[in-house]
Amino acid sequence: MDTRPFRSVLYIPGSKERALEKATGLATDAIIFDLEDAVAIDEKARARELLAERLQSLDYGARAKLVRINALSSEWGADDLDVIAQARPEAILLPKVDEAAHVERLARLLDARSETAETRIWAMMESPAGVLNAAAIARAPRMAGFIMGTNDLAKDMGCRFRPDRLPLMTALQLPLIAAKAAGIVVVDGVYNAFKDEDGLRRECEQGRDMGFDGKTLIHPAQLGVANEVFAPSQEEIALARRQIEAFEAATARGEGVAVVDGKIVENLHIVTAKQILAKADAIAEMTE
Ligand code: COA
Ligand code: MG
Repeated sequence: MDTRPFRSVLYIPGSKERALEKATGLATDAIIFDLEDAVAIDEKARARELLAERLQSLDYGARAKLVRINALSSEWGADDLDVIAQARPEAILLPKVDEAAHVERLARLLDARSETAETRIWAMMESPAGVLNAAAIARAPRMAGFIMGTNDLAKDMGCRFRPDRLPLMTALQLPLIAAKAAGIVVVDGVYNAFKDEDGLRRECEQGRDMGFDGKTLIHPAQLGVANEVFAPSQEEIALARRQIEAFEAATARGEGVAVVDGKIVENLHIVTAKQILAKADAIAEMTE
């Protein structure tokens, strides 16, 4: 069971030296080093050189490191990959993935170099076609996770932003289900109003309740809320422990079912309880 936390996944424009440095000390589970939409066209070439250098010279510790390159069909994608490959990237995040063939093409390019032998692929889920093809994309070679690109999705669907995200719900859930079926990570989209903490909290809670592993973030001020909401609470941890204890006692008595707080506890609840404890341990290790 992979319990690596992805509660907070912070975007950093690859062109911003100060932010690249600052992130070595930020409480983020993962970082998306962006060469795509957060970097202006005139800055693309400088940003990829800067990022390749910083990835090798700075220490980001246990944080997962994803590099978002430009689409391979764009004029920058192939050069991004060439330069970033020197830094032996842990993962490449591919934008605008419409079909599994896009991932397969990147996988072949990674296969062709020794520096990227271990590099995993993450895919942006940000187009109607991508959403419809999510099941096949999730099972493509080297796939490790989906990132929801909700701004692009809303644009292409012509739908409006609402606090309940009802217009986007199906487009969020199809990739979510595809990710679960394939056993890969899936992270919710960004909350644009980065100074609105209450709104962020509500959207994090909604994403958590739906089953997302965490939230993509655009500003360090958003880290605390995401880390808190996507971590098991003290109450959840305590309940998980009590369920495991009660179930073990029931099993010792030769019974297959226990009761905790007036609710039935079966083996499947114990699987969830153990996952909660494993996640809490992984988070504690991350923040040591
Ligand atoms: N990652 C790491 N550090 C960041 C950061 C980020 N995404 N965004 C801001 N910071 C740092 C700044 O460098 C600054 O550090 P300092 O005070 O130690 O010098 C500090 O946090 C405060 O920044 P602030 O002045 O509040 O933000 P800003 O006005 O400079 O920038 C944004 C605001 C939204 C432009 C900026 O946060 C950003 O570029 N976010 C990422 C956007 C992105 O990647 N989008 C693509 C995906 S949707
Ligand atoms: Mg996008």
